[in-house]
Amino acid sequence: MAASLSGKTVLLTGGAGFIGSHTALVLNEMGANVVSVDDYSNSSPESLKRVEVLTQKAISAEELDVRNQAALVSLMQKHKPHAVIHFAGLKAVGESVEKPQLYFDVNLGTTTALLGAMESCGIKNLIFSSSATVYGDQNRPPLTELMPTPIEGAQNPYGLSKLMIEQILEWQHRAHADWNITILRYFNPVGAHPSGKIGEDPRGEPNNLMPRVTRVALQVLDALCVFGTDYPETADGSPSRDYIHVMDLAEGHAAALAQLLAGGESPAFEVYNLGSGKATTVLELLAAFEQANQVVVKHEIHPRRPGDLAVSYADPSKANRELNWKTKRTIMDMCCDAWNWQRQNPQGYEQI
Ligand code: NAD
Ligand code: WQD
Repeated sequence: MAASLSGKTVLLTGGAGFIGSHTALVLNEMGANVVSVDDYSNSSPESLKRVEVLTQKAISAEELDVRNQAALVSLMQKHKPHAVIHFAGLKAVGESVEKPQLYFDVNLGTTTALLGAMESCGIKNLIFSSSATVYGDQNRPPLTELMPTPIEGAQNPYGLSKLMIEQILEWQHRAHADWNITILRYFNPVGAHPSGKIGEDPRGEPNNLMPRVTRVALQVLDALCVFGTDYPETADGSPSRDYIHVMDLAEGHAAALAQLLAGGESPAFEVYNLGSGKATTVLELLAAFEQANQVVVKHEIHPRRPGDLAVSYADPSKANRELNWKTKRTIMDMCCDAWNWQRQNPQGYEQI
């Protein structure tokens, strides 16, 4: 797989973000030429500078709003990417309920501008960051790519934007049958590169579980609120999720990209779950974090968080089989690496 990406130019939108920066690292290590476009609305240029140091290989990082189609076209004309991975977008579920227009504008707007620029420049290979949220609450885990994902199943504007983009991409492929489009549905990405030099650095107060756990361990937050221990579907009553180490996720992108660029008999439109296939409850994750890092994470039991599912986990067998990829890292690895990053960078990429 490594040889097949060597010398390929890959444009990452949102390349400085959590998943983009880890993917940039993996691609750089595999000899690809990484170009990132990011407006740094939820990231820092420092992440990619650190990737350059870790990999001893340069990245072309451009500050740009991906909705600026004319600027994207010039950038594509300059770098001539073989493929694009579209990470850029907004991802905070709660914020999307308060500001739906913003979420549709950014998430749909970046996608349509990108598709237009790709069409103008004759670039026909695209990977898109989708989410397990598209499965909604109408499907029972293990979640497979064949399950229905109707628009009406959207739980919030963020989820609706992902569902709409998946459909936009399907129509794009129908109209341009020579395009290769891969949709990757991520489950719950956590962890960090084992060096602790790059990791998750959300702007403002995080809502996701792992960054809140690391902030409690740092004593920046008082205690973790565990949202519900009365779910009859799990052994300890707290909800369970399919946590995936961000390095496994990054390697999943490299595998999907290698497959996309290898090209089959005919151009393809494919959807893959990227998950471990294992469910871990909130209380299990907390216990693993404490054990892995020998720290106490103070927590309090609170009522359920509205809109939460009891259980969500992937059937990753399609990606295992067709991409020759599977997760390698454990929950303990995720906990160690998340803490290693947070402890070394208590303020994220901001210098103290
Ligand atoms: P992130 O916020 O760290 O990365 C997104 C990047 O996009 C950021 O660097 C941000 O500055 C950039 N960006 C946002 N709007 C932009 C714009 N208009 N122009 C240019 N850049 C812009 O988030 P992430 O966790 O790395 O997520 C990457 C993608 O994966 C997102 O599309 C997200 O919806 C999706 N996803 C994330 C998760 C998760 O839990 N982290 C799960 C499923 C799917
Ligand atoms: C995980 C579990 C909470 C915080 C979200 C998006 C999804 C995807 C991934 C982008 C849940 C519990 C959390 C806390 C807690 N993102 N929890 N205390 O909700 O599974 O998925 O991120 O696509 O679309 O919805 O992730 O990390 O918020 O929560 O007890 O302070 O942790 O109840 O069971 P979620 P999460």
